[in-house]
Amino acid sequence: MQRLSFGSHARYVRGRDRKTGRQVAHIIVVGNEKGGSGKSTTTMHVATALARLGHRVGGLDLDVRQRSFGRYIENRTAFCTKEGLDLPTPFVGQLGEGTDPLTPALEMLERDCDFILLDCPGSHTKLSQMAHTLADTLVTPLNDSFVDFDLLARLSPEQEILGPSIYAEMVWNARQMRSQAGAGPIDWLVLRNRLGTQQMHNKRRVGGALEKLSRRIGFRVAPGFSERVIFRELFPRGLTLLDMKDVGVESLSMSHIAARQELRDLIGELRLPGVTVTF
Ligand SMILES: Nc1ncnc2c1ncn2[C@@H]1O[C@H](COP(=O)(O)OP(=O)(O)OP(=O)(O)O)[C@@H](O)[C@H]1O
Ligand SMILES: [Mg+2]
Repeated sequence: MQRLSFGSHARYVRGRDRKTGRQVAHIIVVGNEKGGSGKSTTTMHVATALARLGHRVGGLDLDVRQRSFGRYIENRTAFCTKEGLDLPTPFVGQLGEGTDPLTPALEMLERDCDFILLDCPGSHTKLSQMAHTLADTLVTPLNDSFVDFDLLARLSPEQEILGPSIYAEMVWNARQMRSQAGAGPIDWLVLRNRLGTQQMHNKRRVGGALEKLSRRIGFRVAPGFSERVIFRELFPRGLTLLDMKDVGVESLSMSHIAARQELRDLIGELRLPGVTVTF
């Protein structure tokens, strides 16, 4: 594995800047090397929920090719302008140039943000690897399938855990690097996404395997999102589940209410400093 410079990373000691003693922004990394597991959807919903709760929220889209999170925010801004709305909106910064595009971008955001969300690509990149070393909180959305599970750990046909897999090893390396640099631990949450109302057998088996693995490699299993068509419909207008009332939707469907509750549960379970869920 390539070694990373810790020149600036070492400043993150228990959330305070070593030089100034000022509280630094809490960094939430949303990552999983598996594509399409719900990283950008989760980033957008967590970032917007925190902005709605009155926190100053910034973000960076580390998926420089797809830019789904950046595009999501652009859609929101365009929709608000067109409709004359003023919805709470996270600020998305720009990556810098050169070999370390992350540090200058974070330094810019840190000045004005309580929370910074980093949306990682669904593959192993240097940028994503760097981001994981900066995570105070790491959120890993996972489709409820053993195919996705395979990036966390290898399982025997009897679902015995044989050992950690590539993504879990990468997180382990990031934890090691943080510890060597004197930075705080990573609070890692694995979020089960796109849970179906059927396939109960598979759901139970994946859930059981995750619980076992969580104790072994040190993550918490977070309440996840069910499979809901609403998640796919919101993107073109840049909206989230929490914006419905503000855009004139009078009565929420049962599915929307349940989805809001899932988001509420997730934000609570993240246990972020200074955050009380009031939506
Ligand atoms: N809970 C859900 N219910 C229904 N659709 C969902 C849900 N979560 C995500 N999706 C849809 O799944 C697709 C992938 O989601 P998303 O883009 O958030 O994943 P990603 O992990 O960021 O993907 P990539 O690895 O390509 O960056 C999108 O079409 C999104 O709208
Ligand atoms: Mg994405």
